[in-house]
Amino acid sequence: MAPATASAITLKINGEHHTLTVDNRTTLLDALRERLGLTGSKKGCDQGQCGACTVLVDGRRTVACLQLAVAAEGRAVTTIEGVADGEQLHPVQQAFLDLDGYQCGYCTPGQICSALGVLDEHAAGWPSAATGDVRPEAGPPPLTPEEIRERMSGNLCRCGAYVSIVQAVSQAAADPARPATGTDPKEPAA
Ligand code: FES
Ligand code: FES
Repeated sequence: MAPATASAITLKINGEHHTLTVDNRTTLLDALRERLGLTGSKKGCDQGQCGACTVLVDGRRTVACLQLAVAAEGRAVTTIEGVADGEQLHPVQQAFLDLDGYQCGYCTPGQICSALGVLDEHAAGWPSAATGDVRPEAGPPPLTPEEIRERMSGNLCRCGAYVSIVQAVSQAAADPARPATGTDPKEPAA
């Protein structure tokens, strides 16, 4: 019997279930963009190098061009289309608008999804390569521009809007109204 080359899967995207049959080699990015019409996640390099395709899978940053769609089954995927609460922008989105954290906007969905991951990782006490004292008892380091630049370094911006992006992430980090991303923004974190 020939090996199966396609699979019927159900993906949970932004709190909604989508059932589709995909070639087993289909990436999550292509499933989102080409099959589900969720074109907010961008394809830049398609090689895991630029971060334009960043989404959150179970609340963690993932480059969707390197994740197979079949491997995302049963997990909570958040794309840029699911970040706002209806008409209410997420504080990270608002900060990008307020501070012009973009020019052409191509990298922006990935930047925003990545920033959501950064803020949760920082709140959870994860150190970065820029963290001076990584002892657990030292707690989360101040989210300095250096920390933000390092933590966002997987997201490239061809327009060079980095100064404003760092400012936007910093503003969002200081926003007391910022909801935790958790494992799925549509559901309270466990
Ligand atoms: S398109 Fe996925 S990292 Fe560049
Ligand atoms: S705003 Fe143009 S690539 Fe970043």
